[in-house]
Amino acid sequence: METPPFLQTAGDPLAIAVFASGTGSNFRTLLAHSEQGMLGRGCIVCLVSDRPDSGAVAHAMSRGLPTFTATHQEVGGRKAFEEAALAFLASHGVRWIVLAGYMRLVGRTLLQAYEGHMINIHPSLLPHFPGLDAPAQALSAGVSETGVTVHYVDAGMDTGQIIAQTRVPILPNDSLAALTTRIHAAEHELLPRIVAQLCSDAMDTK
Ligand code: GRF
Repeated sequence: METPPFLQTAGDPLAIAVFASGTGSNFRTLLAHSEQGMLGRGCIVCLVSDRPDSGAVAHAMSRGLPTFTATHQEVGGRKAFEEAALAFLASHGVRWIVLAGYMRLVGRTLLQAYEGHMINIHPSLLPHFPGLDAPAQALSAGVSETGVTVHYVDAGMDTGQIIAQTRVPILPNDSLAALTTRIHAAEHELLPRIVAQLCSDAMDTK
């Protein structure tokens, strides 16, 4: 009988790439967990960014983490960017992709290679408030709570299968800054926990 793939790789580290475009607080949290061996078998091995001037890239450089970064414009569009990223991911043996503030829709090139092994963190209780500025959308809607969602990535905008959510209250007279801080705190707890779960032996069958 053939050995199931997850048993063939039991005990090996599972290489994870983080994609980020911004400040990179979720990336920094994930990398810190990885450096302390707190992602189960998961290990952050590289960063991909479409913003060479981002905080995420600066942090990766400061930690000596292999980084692929270029603007879409520099390389000739999304398809070319994803093809170059794919070659970079392959050279690092990447098995999982975590989008942590990656401000681009993922195209067919990356989806074909990684669908089912690519997750995203979004700052709302999806399906409510997909897309940009989700905390501001929640404040304007006048709802009493919002939250954060970790979900699989598909071709849509924040439409993939939901894996886990954390609720975050919206307080009377909340400011956008205060709400965003609370949302970030929830993200920094939820995302590493879910990445560790997904990288456990039982879940990894690719
Ligand atoms: C996070 O709120 C994440 O949910 C959203 O973009 C933000 C990125 O923040 N997709 P940071 O760059 O990780 O600080």
